[in-house]
Amino acid sequence: MRFSFQDFPAAQDRLRADVLAGLATRPKSIPPKYFYDAAGCHLFETICTQPEYALCRTEQALMASHLPEIATALGKVESIVEPGAGDCTKVRRLLDALRPNRLVVMDIAGAPLAASAQAVAHDYPDIDVSALAMDFLGELDAADPWLAAGPHLVYYPGSSIGNFPPAAATALLARFRRLAGADGRLLIGFDLKKDPQRLHAAYNDAAGVTAAFNLNLLARINRELAADFDLARFRHYAFYNPLEGRVEMHLASLTEQTVNVAGQRFRFDCGETLLTEYSYKFVPREFDALAQAAGWQPKAGWQHDGFAVRLYE
Ligand code: AVJ
Repeated sequence: MRFSFQDFPAAQDRLRADVLAGLATRPKSIPPKYFYDAAGCHLFETICTQPEYALCRTEQALMASHLPEIATALGKVESIVEPGAGDCTKVRRLLDALRPNRLVVMDIAGAPLAASAQAVAHDYPDIDVSALAMDFLGELDAADPWLAAGPHLVYYPGSSIGNFPPAAATALLARFRRLAGADGRLLIGFDLKKDPQRLHAAYNDAAGVTAAFNLNLLARINRELAADFDLARFRHYAFYNPLEGRVEMHLASLTEQTVNVAGQRFRFDCGETLLTEYSYKFVPREFDALAQAAGWQPKAGWQHDGFAVRLYE
C-alpha cells in the first residue's frame, strides 16, 4: 500500500471570513462548498438516493455503460487528479479501467477523504495514492509539490462545475488546464438542461432531504462560528431559473430578524433570502464553449438521460 495524507488547515480559517463577507453583501450569500461538514456529506448522500434527484444515479449508469469506450478514448493514463473527490467511490471505476500509477484526491472535507482514500490505497496496492485535505478553490497552488509529474487526467465528475457562474467556471477550468500539464486531459460530468419541472422536483424532494441539507448550513455556522440562526425562521427555497439556466437554492427569512454571527449582527428583512447555491445546467455545445475559453479542446462525449460526460484535451 502506498498512501500519503496532507492536511492544509488554512481552509478552516476561511469559513469565518467567507461567511462574514457573504452576509455583508447583497444579496446575502454563502459559498456552497460549506455545505459539506460531516452532517452535510451524509445528507448529500441521502439526496442522491431520493427518487426525484437522479443526477448521481444517472452519472453512475452512464459511467458503467460507457466505461469501455471512455477507457479507449483515454488510452494510457499515468496519473489521475480528482478535485472534490468526496468518498472516492466514483474514481474507483476509473482506477479499475485505467490502472494508473498515481492518484491524487482532494477534498475540503478532510476526515472522510483521508479514510476513503486510505481504503482506495489498500484496495489498489499498485497505485500511489495521495490525499490532500484542502479547499482546492483557494489553495490549489499548494498542491503543486504533490502533482509535479504530469501529464494528469483531471477528473471532475458529479456536475460540481455547475456550482460556479460562467466566469468562475471558466477560471476553474483554466486552473485545471494548467494543473493537467502538457498533454493533460479533463474528464468532466455535468447535468443537462431538461424539463424545468423535473429540475424543480430534484431540488424540492418530497422527503425534505434537500431542505434539511440547505438548513444544515445554518446549523453548521451556529456550531462553528458561535452564531444564533433560528432554523425555524428560515425556509428552504429552490427553483429553476430558465433565463439563467440554473437552479438557485436560497434560505428565505420568514420574519424580520437579527442574527449574531462571530460577534457581528446581521439584519434580515421578512422574505429576504440568503443565496446558498447555484446549480447550472448546460447543453453540450454551451459547455464546450466554456471549456474552450479555458484552453480545452473537445475530444469525445457521452450522454445518458439528461446527464453528460465529456473528454477534453
Ligand atoms: C453536488 C453540486 C452536483 O448541484 O445538484 C444537490 C449539490 N444541491 N442538491 C447539485 C446539490 C442540492 C449538487 N452538486
